[in-house]
Amino acid sequence: MSNNQIYLCSKCDAQFPKWAGRCEACGAWGSIKEEDAAPDVGRRTSDVKINPAPIISFADAGKFAPAILRPTGLSGLDLTLGGGLVDGSITLVAGEPGIGKSTLLAQLGLVLSANDKTVLYVTGEESPAQIKRRLDRLSPSLPEKFHFLDETAAEVIAATIEQEKPDLTIIDSIQSLRLSELPGEAGSVGQVKACAATLAAAAKQSNRPIILVGQVTKEGDVAGPRVLEHVVDTVLFLEGERNHHYRLLRALKHRFGPTDEVALLAMTEKGLEPVLDISSELMKDRAANVAGSIVTCLMEGHRPALIEIQALITPAGYGTPVRRTTGIDSARLGMLLAVLARRAGINALDKDVYVNAAGGMDARDPSIDLAIAFAIAGALKNAPLDPRLAVFGEIGLGGEVRPISLPELRLKEMARLGFTQVIVPKGQSRVPTGSLRATEVSTLNEALKILGLE
Ligand code: TYD
Ligand code: MG
Repeated sequence: MSNNQIYLCSKCDAQFPKWAGRCEACGAWGSIKEEDAAPDVGRRTSDVKINPAPIISFADAGKFAPAILRPTGLSGLDLTLGGGLVDGSITLVAGEPGIGKSTLLAQLGLVLSANDKTVLYVTGEESPAQIKRRLDRLSPSLPEKFHFLDETAAEVIAATIEQEKPDLTIIDSIQSLRLSELPGEAGSVGQVKACAATLAAAAKQSNRPIILVGQVTKEGDVAGPRVLEHVVDTVLFLEGERNHHYRLLRALKHRFGPTDEVALLAMTEKGLEPVLDISSELMKDRAANVAGSIVTCLMEGHRPALIEIQALITPAGYGTPVRRTTGIDSARLGMLLAVLARRAGINALDKDVYVNAAGGMDARDPSIDLAIAFAIAGALKNAPLDPRLAVFGEIGLGGEVRPISLPELRLKEMARLGFTQVIVPKGQSRVPTGSLRATEVSTLNEALKILGLE
């Protein structure tokens, strides 16, 4: 065995000095292969002349044109991108399987190609026939300029982009590509990174945008979006509860604009449709006069979104009581149940407790603590609350109610949707909001007393 041999796992790229049947790093069996070690890098030999690069003053930086965001025409996507796609950029759209990434990008391809732009859809994951079926479902006619390429070799795709220069290339998905000059299976960390870098170079060279689809799996995801974050310009995340019809599209990284805009989309038979008035949409299915329901307000990016929190409490069966949540942090629920019991004498510790953020929204935010506490107290006492009542505030372990961010925007949204009473943390009722009356509280007990739930 010569010195420059190493053993590399084709799944996770871990390196070992010796062969083994199972990779110690990722646990894969039979994935370790012998490879030539990379030549020493970083050592400069005197016979290689390296030319220095010119440096530029920041004062002259005005000479560099700002990135131009080109609207795509798909409003949810343009919102999260801060305006549109940038020429020569590379964007990763990540999400769990079945969440709607291919649907969203098929819609994008249809909109752009209908506007006379050439779009190339590279399918490594599904067959062209499957993609075609999806497109037929989304649109009665297929624009001439929407093309597909059934290919998984990254270097071939890059060469095609550089030659054809399509106005947009969609790669579905990055995990299905392989660069033939590198070891490792498609989807391994090394392959995913190298394929993305090859495509990023093609995007720069052709000065056209490329969108990569990235699969994220809950368990054991070795080559998720994290490893691509620094290779791409933008990372968008499509998330939601798969069984509900709402999806959130948010930017985790965006080199050309802010990352705090979020688009709410609804999955329909016609694909993902933007929901413009989030609060009205989420309030419209609210059941009247049910104990254990209360409205609070989340911030989705810059936009307030009213959301209903529901609790259901039943006598516990045999064994440990059940705690089930949807869209709510279950550790937070445990803490709130303990605080309710110890600080307010509202004891649901020995009961089965179910708490939902209605509509399948992700409400893991401490600003909804007070709403969860009211929903639980209301459910336990079987006392429906006034449907025009809303609440926000964080709860501490001592039963104190803490201020939250952006109270003005949340109050305005509650007033807009016709709420008449709101309970808020001390010092957070500043804004005059028409017929909405805000009552400040500094403890959970005070809040429960106002509602007659203590
Ligand atoms: P898909 O876009 O294939 O998800 P991903 O690419 O993220 O794996 O599909 C998501 C789901 O959406 C799929 O179960 C079918 C459904 N769907 C609709 O409800 N309406 C539609 O118009 C389309 C195209 C798909
Ligand atoms: Mg897909």
